[in-house]
Amino acid sequence: MPAFHAAIIRWYRRNARDLPWRRRSDPYSVLVSETMLQQTQVARVIPKFEKFLAAFPTIASLACAPLADVLRMWSGLGYNSRAKRLHETARTVLRDFNGQVPHAIDDLRTLPGVGRYTAGAVASFAYGADEAAVDVNVGRVLSRALLGKDRITGSAIWELAARVVPRGRASMWNHALMDVGALFCRPNPDCAGCPARRNCVFSTSGKPERKTGARRGRALSAKAPFLGSRRYYRGRVVRALTCAPRLSLLALGEQVKEDFAATDVAWLRDLLAELERDGLVALDANRAHVRLPTDARQS
Ligand code: ADE
Repeated sequence: MPAFHAAIIRWYRRNARDLPWRRRSDPYSVLVSETMLQQTQVARVIPKFEKFLAAFPTIASLACAPLADVLRMWSGLGYNSRAKRLHETARTVLRDFNGQVPHAIDDLRTLPGVGRYTAGAVASFAYGADEAAVDVNVGRVLSRALLGKDRITGSAIWELAARVVPRGRASMWNHALMDVGALFCRPNPDCAGCPARRNCVFSTSGKPERKTGARRGRALSAKAPFLGSRRYYRGRVVRALTCAPRLSLLALGEQVKEDFAATDVAWLRDLLAELERDGLVALDANRAHVRLPTDARQS
């Protein structure tokens, strides 16, 4: 595949997106950025990334911070469970890995919230290991370019991605594939502008019919939660609690749900019980007041 690699790497050297996490390659920063990017679009992560690192500049500072402070810093990114898992990961690294984010994929994958993708990203971006990092965009680029298929998934795409990682250049390669996926090889692709068009099976074989309708232009990562969905209200609860030390159920209900009424109390209790199980809120003993969790030290 040398021509495909050469085309992408040549383009990337001149046109790489200037993203704040690309200026840092220490493993902690990579863990933070990749956790933020797991389900949130690049544009929303950019302003949060630097602020988060300013508040928690080292893995030890994150591990020692109360979870409530971490959730406050995370506010606006959504999927708050990620913040909780990142916090747990920081504590696990301190406790079990002597404060050093591990190198090996198998060790990385023991960390809370670190799956195959994030492990590959940390190993390649921070440690320069020859590891693939396949997210939806990268999977689409490789499926199309090398097999002419719109999207292959599962272990097949990981095997393909691992085979084509250029030795010694995985970090640049993975970043470059992300840019090609985000800028050209989108669900509705811009093959004319793509640096790999001459080396791409999908483009040179006369692309398959584009799907129209619902899939077209669909966001590459999760959007804001559907209004009125469970996730929407979970996010509203955590956000309300980041602004107040403690709220009664009634006050909280009025903040999160329009026209909150007595008939909604059972629903709110159920939502809070779920958030409590996930470790994202804490209810007082009488279960009449709620707050962000206080620190339950693990180590
Ligand atoms: N999406 C996930 N990780 C990314 C990264 N490091 N750069 C750009 N987009 C990404």
